[in-house]
Amino acid sequence: MKEKHVEVQEYYGKELEVSEDLKTNACCTLEIPPKFIREALAKVHDEVHNKYYGCGIVVPNELEGLRILDLGSGSGRDCYVLSQFVGEKGEVIGVDMTDEQLDVANKHIDYHADKFNYQSSNVSFVKGNIESLGELNLEPNSFDLIISNCVINLATDKDKVLKDVYNLLKPGGEMYFSDVYSDRRIAEDLQDDPVLWGECLSGALYWNDFLRVAKNAGFTDPRSVKNNPITIENEAVQEKCGNIKFFSVTYRLFKIDGLEDECEDYGQAIAYKGSIANNAASFDLDDHHHFPKGKIISVCGNTYRMLHDTRFKNHFDFYGTWDTHYGVFEGCGGSMPFSTDDTGDAGSCC
Ligand SMILES: C[S@@+](CC[C@H](N)C(=O)[O-])C[C@H]1O[C@@H](n2cnc3c(N)ncnc32)[C@H](O)[C@@H]1O
Repeated sequence: MKEKHVEVQEYYGKELEVSEDLKTNACCTLEIPPKFIREALAKVHDEVHNKYYGCGIVVPNELEGLRILDLGSGSGRDCYVLSQFVGEKGEVIGVDMTDEQLDVANKHIDYHADKFNYQSSNVSFVKGNIESLGELNLEPNSFDLIISNCVINLATDKDKVLKDVYNLLKPGGEMYFSDVYSDRRIAEDLQDDPVLWGECLSGALYWNDFLRVAKNAGFTDPRSVKNNPITIENEAVQEKCGNIKFFSVTYRLFKIDGLEDECEDYGQAIAYKGSIANNAASFDLDDHHHFPKGKIISVCGNTYRMLHDTRFKNHFDFYGTWDTHYGVFEGCGGSMPFSTDDTGDAGSCC
């Protein structure tokens, strides 16, 4: 049997030429991006768009000046979108292992620098395996943000990828990424099917195993931002997958010292100032933390830290101390963290 990485390189380098060649809708983005992201997407070269195989929107807020790494950057669509938001002083580095994808990404570096009116490009692409990030001369603690779009499912050693990500992030930095998850563990014979694996289905982690992998890597409190059920749209593939349900989910994982494994109540609260670009009326930290401008909202210790110990700090007023613990923060549960319907509502608080 061929090694999985070779199969994936062949799938994305030879089998697929454009997004329409995909056999299912797993590597398709079902969400409609907000206007400011649509405007940035409109400036990306058509050839880059045509080879986009992502499953979510990996553009968080507050990006000016950040240093970003994209794992499995493909033809570079997300890198070129983020390039616009970090500005000329920011930097975006994409890593991919497939030559054909890197060729398209590299071919349009100057085109995008011109389009964004930059003196020189702030985007570069590196050939490499995201399961060996340590071999790429990337400095530990040097990235503000690491993104990835429909790639981690294709990795055979997901634990290692997330541990390396943790190591590469600055304190207060975050991994913000979209990927495919399943509602149960996937049998080995399905994992050995190159089409199911290549289509980002059979490498998907059972969501509860993903939470374990993330926590084990140091990301104590993974937050789900958006989720959509995947409908597959291919009878033969659906037949093979049987009862397994798949979801495309965007998670944010903060690297913050002191996050706890449960949401704890210290009597703290915060109020959003309305000052984050494109979020004048309200700010969503994740799919269950919505902060309307000016409203004082009680938060658990972890949420307090995610806003206080990160690039979001200046956009909030913070109330309370760590002096008194009032018990577990009300409202947190342990059920499946994303819905099985298409409302996008989460099943529990944290
Ligand atoms: C589903 S595509 C997504 C590409 C890109 N993120 C996008 O949104 O268009 C998966 C990409 O990940 C790359 N990839 C998969 N496994 C990888 C690995 N272990 N190391 C580096 N790149 C990998 C493939 O070459 C391919 O370009």
